[in-house]
Amino acid sequence: STIKIDTTLASKGDHEHFTLKEIVEQPDAIRRTLSGRLDERFNTAHFGGLNLNAKELMAFKRIKILGCGSAYISGSIGASMIERLARIPTDAESAAEFRYRNPIIDPQTLYLAVSQSGETYDTLTAVQEIQRKGGTVLGIVNVVGSSIARQCGAGMYLHAGPEVAVVSTKTFACTLTAFALLALHIGRMRDVSPAEGANVIRALNELPQQIQSLIDRRTEFEQVAKKYADYHRAYFIGRCEGFGLAREGALKLKEISYIHAEAYPASELKHGPLALIDEQTPTFAIVPDDDLLAKNLSTLAEIKTRKGPVVAIGQSEALNVEIDDYIHVPRYHPLTDPILLLIPLQFLAYYTALARDCDVDQPRNLAKSVTVE
Ligand code: G6P
Repeated sequence: STIKIDTTLASKGDHEHFTLKEIVEQPDAIRRTLSGRLDERFNTAHFGGLNLNAKELMAFKRIKILGCGSAYISGSIGASMIERLARIPTDAESAAEFRYRNPIIDPQTLYLAVSQSGETYDTLTAVQEIQRKGGTVLGIVNVVGSSIARQCGAGMYLHAGPEVAVVSTKTFACTLTAFALLALHIGRMRDVSPAEGANVIRALNELPQQIQSLIDRRTEFEQVAKKYADYHRAYFIGRCEGFGLAREGALKLKEISYIHAEAYPASELKHGPLALIDEQTPTFAIVPDDDLLAKNLSTLAEIKTRKGPVVAIGQSEALNVEIDDYIHVPRYHPLTDPILLLIPLQFLAYYTALARDCDVDQPRNLAKSVTVE
């Protein structure tokens, strides 16, 4: 069965759709995720409910993140964030894939189960499988008192507030924020210096305001979305966290606009998808101003050589390569920058769906929460 949400009970406020309401609520939602968790004395983050002391947390040698749908994708970005800052090997896997493959549960691995609703059956069963084999699993959950939260018995709540639209937006951003907090918490027990911890805290404190500046630019994103709304397919590419963002951007677009969108690591384009690039196949590229900028620019040049339209979402003032449209997102801190780069992708999917007259809040064939196998 699936959970049916009575949308007549919730209010869209002044907004045309819950999706839009929830996108613009993100600065406040993130403030709530951060609330009471930043420690400026020790330049770290604290959580009330992890139920693990420092010694226990330090004993884990790896982290594995599990979830379904957008929760799984948020986990793949979270894994990169945690590895980047805390330097502990971390990866993400689909909770359903995990539970069906008779997983080896390692006592030195900390498992994290991510779920907005806390009711996704495959994620709940993965949690039970870990516990049955003696593993430690924490929940990263939005709905307080939900099945996954109760089954885990420890973890952290997002406090994003209720999310009504089928596709997750604010809970996705809040999950990434939770991963940033966790990366800081574990990182400061390991090698992250007080000064670097202070930088992360500053970035987290600034995040809501920076997201607000992007929300204020929504008509710019609407123009880009309208320009590409009539194409039948699209690629989304990126590297590292940017690849996770590409996956989320593609998933959002296919879910609510029904355009076939596929995400690829930018580095893999030449190993196959380049064969499909033509004038009718736009590519949305995540291009942070980082060590891999030159690599990303050469990928974009390869796409342009095949006459593929390119929309770049990047951090440099301008990109030194021919592209069709550019969305500039300010650069602040590598740990939190993925959360900023996410915002234009949410708006692109939303405005594309509007331009195509789709039911944005309740896309066909999809449910907010899948409580069956
Ligand atoms: C459904 C929803 C997705 C969501 C996934 C996991 O498929 O349509 O938007 O990402 O479930 O949901 P959860 O509540 O576990 O985060």
